[in-house]
Amino acid sequence: MTFKKVLAIETSCDDTSVAVVGANGQVFSVVSADQDLQHQPFGGVVPEIASRNHTLQILPLVDQCLKSCGMGFSDIDGIAVTSRPGLVGSLIVGVVSAKTLAWNYNLPVVGVNHLEGHLLAPFLRDESHQPPHDFDFPFVGLAVSGGHTQLYLVKGVGEYEVLGKTLDDAAGEAFDKFAKLVGLGFPGGVAVDRMASTGDASKFQFPRALKNDGTLNYSFSGLKTSAQNVIQKLPESQLEQMLPDLCASYQEAIVEALMHKLNLAVEQQGVKRAIVTGGVSANSRLRKAVQDWAKQNGIQTVIPPLRYCTDNAAMIGYAGILRLNRGEASGQDLIPSPRSYEGDFQVGVSR
Ligand code: KG4
Ligand code: ZN
Repeated sequence: MTFKKVLAIETSCDDTSVAVVGANGQVFSVVSADQDLQHQPFGGVVPEIASRNHTLQILPLVDQCLKSCGMGFSDIDGIAVTSRPGLVGSLIVGVVSAKTLAWNYNLPVVGVNHLEGHLLAPFLRDESHQPPHDFDFPFVGLAVSGGHTQLYLVKGVGEYEVLGKTLDDAAGEAFDKFAKLVGLGFPGGVAVDRMASTGDASKFQFPRALKNDGTLNYSFSGLKTSAQNVIQKLPESQLEQMLPDLCASYQEAIVEALMHKLNLAVEQQGVKRAIVTGGVSANSRLRKAVQDWAKQNGIQTVIPPLRYCTDNAAMIGYAGILRLNRGEASGQDLIPSPRSYEGDFQVGVSR
């Protein structure tokens, strides 16, 4: 059979999201609930709080999602759900909900790798957004969020090669740790971005780790220590005044590192297409740097709209429907996994 529409569920971290997606990437509806307020007092995602909130939010969101596109389960051909990687307690809520709905409505279910979702997000379309009609495989994909910072060569559906990854913190984590350090709250990426807009990025020198190591890996854990040292030396009265410069300099260090290896990956692979996705791609400095780089180097680059960059069920639905149409349904024995499966990604085959 051909799958025309799937209901998709994403609960891998702290966003609960449900979508209805078509086989050509058409998003009929996507509704999400974040939990930022609940995790804010702890300065980071608390897994137990995340899974409890998913439990409360998931079924109302399924109802809301179907209502908002005027559909019912009779219009749906299958169910896609993020089954890996992620927080296991969070994934369990999505997987159990998906399997229960699938069993109840006699629909096939497919488990999707969250990162595959991010990598296919540039093909999503809706009433107000169409991807460039000539965008296609292969392309270099930079997935950059609070949980991940990875470079891939995306050769086709199901053909993903890991080119490089962070050896320690994700770029979003580096933003969040810095924000916490200077009292900008959680998650702090947006606040740092805003504060940086009036700052001078050349005021402080933060390290660009692994710049000339010849790999496509990243490292961001030294940045926070370096920022901590700079801040300790500043008289307290100056911190507030220097904050925009600190934010701009710190942000520049992250953006420059991201761009350097993205450029290297494109050069090494000899492809002229790239995508940047994940929550950090909301960063205004990074978006500008990517656009300038794409223009200067003639690289066709897609940064999906923010609603498809941050964690969302639409990208899971698209990956899921492609998998279902290839005959890759999962069955009721699907279980969540904190890690990707071994076969999900190839490592370094073309280098
Ligand atoms: O993809 P996402 O919603 O969730 C995952 O982590 O998977 O990404 C959230 C991350 C957080 O670390 C947040 O601080 C960061 O993306 N972020 C930003 C910006 N907006 C969100 N980082 C820098 N600048 C931003 N404007
Ligand atoms: Zn993500």
